[in-house]
Amino acid sequence: MAASETVLRVPLASLSPSCYLASFFVNPTPILSLKPAGRKRRGLRCTNSHEVSRVSNNVARETMFHSPNWDLKGKKLVSTRCKCQKHDVEENFRSTLLPSDGLGSELKSDLDEMPLPVNGSLSSNGNVQSGGPKSIEDEAWDLLRQSIVYYCGSPIGTIAANDPNSTSVLNYDQVFIRDFIPSGIAFLLKGEYDIVRNFILYTLQLQSWEKTMDCHSPGQGLMPASFKVKTVPLDGDDSLTEEVLDPDFGEAAIGRVAPVDSGLWWIILLRAYGKCTGDLSVQERVDVQTGIKMILKLCLADGFDMFPTLLVTDGSCMIDRRMGIHGHPLEIQALFYSALVCAREMLTPEDGSADLIRALNNRLVALSFHIREYYWLDLKKINEIYRYQTEEYSYDAVNKFNIYPDQIPSWLVDFMPNRGGYLLGNLQPAHMDFRFFSLGNLWSIVSSLATNDQSHAILDFVEAKWAELVADMPFKICYPAMEGEEWRIITGSDPKNTPWSYHNGGAWPTLLWQLTVASIKMGRPEIAEKAVELAERRIAIDKWPEYYDTKRARFIGKQARLYQTWSIAGYLVAKLLLANPAAAKFLTSEEDSDLENAFSCMISANPRKTRGRKKAQQPFIV
Ligand code: GLC
Repeated sequence: MAASETVLRVPLASLSPSCYLASFFVNPTPILSLKPAGRKRRGLRCTNSHEVSRVSNNVARETMFHSPNWDLKGKKLVSTRCKCQKHDVEENFRSTLLPSDGLGSELKSDLDEMPLPVNGSLSSNGNVQSGGPKSIEDEAWDLLRQSIVYYCGSPIGTIAANDPNSTSVLNYDQVFIRDFIPSGIAFLLKGEYDIVRNFILYTLQLQSWEKTMDCHSPGQGLMPASFKVKTVPLDGDDSLTEEVLDPDFGEAAIGRVAPVDSGLWWIILLRAYGKCTGDLSVQERVDVQTGIKMILKLCLADGFDMFPTLLVTDGSCMIDRRMGIHGHPLEIQALFYSALVCAREMLTPEDGSADLIRALNNRLVALSFHIREYYWLDLKKINEIYRYQTEEYSYDAVNKFNIYPDQIPSWLVDFMPNRGGYLLGNLQPAHMDFRFFSLGNLWSIVSSLATNDQSHAILDFVEAKWAELVADMPFKICYPAMEGEEWRIITGSDPKNTPWSYHNGGAWPTLLWQLTVASIKMGRPEIAEKAVELAERRIAIDKWPEYYDTKRARFIGKQARLYQTWSIAGYLVAKLLLANPAAAKFLTSEEDSDLENAFSCMISANPRKTRGRKKAQQPFIV
């Protein structure tokens, strides 16, 4: 697409009658190429930023996007914002939970009065049930439904946390893309498809908005980390308000971190939607196809990097703070691989996309080879690293990344079981991050980035290290925690990421769902069953915390939100999948024969396989 053009995406979501919508909503055109005059707003926004409030700034952005001045095949566009009844403009995070057409007022007062759910005793409207205690699952469904966010009367996502007693909301009142994934899957598995479809289409609209930070715009195709529904007064009419979607691409996020994972998760959810509903019309839409391609283009763009892994900054995924995961963290690689596989399945072949598909296929092979070969760690590999020669200058070096054996941390030697292994957290020149990162490892199983043997070995490792990785609450986000000087230097003395807390070795119940998909895929559901059973002992009593602290996950996290939606949804997805394991197929990918062939060609061409250590030539030391 030419730089001067922009893409207008038109959602097909059903809309409440009380919302006034532009005429083109009724008569949607999948994709429109527009050439707006005055597309460049950056300078204006930048120079005027001190005068422009956040809300008006975003209104400006949306007005720009749907400007009535943009002539569309001779029609005047009015606005895509819905104009609703008068609301209090002062934002209360609860207001975003409610349909804006007034139907939600009853629910709103219920929420205001909402008793804290005490282990399975809430009914769907938030009242304590008289007919005996509710099951944990029923309570979870009630809470998940209460977390739904509406836009123009349609459900479009779930709020990150719905803790009525929290004093500082921060951005937990937003719909996070990554947090919505388990919510979306829970709804899909329950047969409630609209919210997922709306989420996919509305977030797609946000994708092409311009976003800037201090006059700099990140690449086109980036999906926001989160968004919020804002109710603002309608220009020139005090009696009316309108709702606008306000995305955050990291320009307001703590630490200004780039949400690299958002677009990857979006593709994965899109594919799951098609698989689960059988409705391929969403993924086949021209605007959705364009959205997929924009994400791919951004990820596949050439850079300076020598590796096929995706190079990212620290905090660009679930761990969205500085934790020493910049470079090529496993979580991003697993999601990247998964998104490439899903996209390949969904892209409709057309002349213009042949190069992209070729680049995608090449990257898939190179990426899986790189991760399987160089990220794999088990006792044998540690021993190999322990005996590495260094400073090998040659094309067929064994120690390609010049890893100094002294890097092997002392904890690892005792920690690695005889049976089992896992994929490294990160690999860079002269640096291996030996920490175990759960999401990356679990998603490598789900997506078949790991080989079949490696996948089983990862689960063997989880079983062997249950006391450390699960202990009292599944599942540690990473192991072990960084302490002392290492913590000070790598996290920048982050008081939230102290040892065995939050991202630094805390336990996150949401990871239950990825553990469940992985263990079902490998025919070992008993692993997930055991973890779910353990979670059920505390999670509802503890009010669904975001994370747990301490080595054995004994405490509710120091700063953990309660009623954290993805803790609730993660538990529900695990339960639903264990009850219906066949449904895990909506999320898993099997390695196809093309990939398998290409991969075995690479393996047989790999010098490491064809020569032994003894045969190595004298290294040429520079
Ligand atoms: C925290 C988590 C992040 C999550 C967000 C909202 O910042 O680190 O992964 O998306 O909270 O729940």
